[in-house]
Amino acid sequence: MSDPITILGIETSCDDTAAAVLRDAGQGPEILSNRVAGQAELHAAFGGVVPEIAARAHAERVDLVIEAALEEAGVQLSGIDAIAVTAGPGLIGGVLAGVMAAKAIGFAAAKPVIAVNHLAGHALTPRLTDGLAYPYLVLLVSGGHCQFLRVDGPDSFTRLGGTIDDAPGEAFDKAARLLGLPQPGGPSVERAARNGDPTRFDLPRPLVDRPGLDLSFSGLKTAILRARDGLVTAQGGLREADVADLSASFQQAVADVLTEKSRRALAGQTGLSGFAVAGGVAANNQLRSGLQSVAEEAGVPFVAPPLALCTDNGAMIAYAGLELHRLGRRDGPAFPARPRWPLDAAAVPILGSGKKGAKA
Ligand code: KG4
Ligand code: ZN
Repeated sequence: MSDPITILGIETSCDDTAAAVLRDAGQGPEILSNRVAGQAELHAAFGGVVPEIAARAHAERVDLVIEAALEEAGVQLSGIDAIAVTAGPGLIGGVLAGVMAAKAIGFAAAKPVIAVNHLAGHALTPRLTDGLAYPYLVLLVSGGHCQFLRVDGPDSFTRLGGTIDDAPGEAFDKAARLLGLPQPGGPSVERAARNGDPTRFDLPRPLVDRPGLDLSFSGLKTAILRARDGLVTAQGGLREADVADLSASFQQAVADVLTEKSRRALAGQTGLSGFAVAGGVAANNQLRSGLQSVAEEAGVPFVAPPLALCTDNGAMIAYAGLELHRLGRRDGPAFPARPRWPLDAAAVPILGSGKKGAKA
């Protein structure tokens, strides 16, 4: 059994200012607090995250969120063993706000700081929530990223494939904008799709006809645009049923593509203890059920963490920090904030993989 350990986790890489306290007293990780201050209202008028506004909001709020997380956990800084902070990838102003706060607190309280890769936070979440053993396969699907990762350890990731253009969350957000639905697009497209006919529009299933695990979502967005414009020309506007049918057809196409590629990814791996999904798009029920069925086919358990731990949060960063701490990782005062930081340094960089480069 390992020594009890308490970690403060800080996350500021996109549009959520988050902090959490995690403790493992030998019985597995326990989330003592997990605070998130979202910024949706600050960016709503701009149709997307504005980096400068995000950075300023993080700088203003990060101390308060950290304080609230410590208070809720009933833990003082003296009771923390280490501070884990997202050091990238993400919007650099936001990442800097978190990193500076972590370094300042670490210096003042004489606590070690651990630089965590945001994507590692997402990818390790199935261990935090379900204790999934290494190695496992994770599909990371969010507003800025889409990749299949084989996870062999807290610092050992192999990228098996991913998007060559948009991330699926980005595609959901754009589809929503084209259909006049509110942001974030994923939940509103899913809601509209409930009453829709997924077979009415014959949308493409990009790259499914090609071998391998690469994915593409930008063509789907164009297909929605064409279908919408066709309806507008033919009937002078969109009816509610059109929006529902377009949403359902779009959601079906995304789920089909991700499900088929997951089937292939699982078929190409041996010795896996499970298949997990992470990131905001993992909230989508149609996608979850498709992924669940391919996991069953492959004979491995399927893990879909609760929504609050799929989207950006401090607990996942604290958890990644906890595993790295156990490996002896400590980062000195000079580690950088990194706008780009691939999890698998050996993988060939993919042009435009998550063009926002920020959300993950
Ligand atoms: O991981 P996340 O909270 O933020 C980052 O991207 O870092 O993911 C947000 C993305 C957004 O693009 C949002 O539209 C999408 O996740 N999303 C969904 C659903 N809920 C959130 N996409 C599809 N279906 C959903 N139910
Ligand atoms: Zn993320």
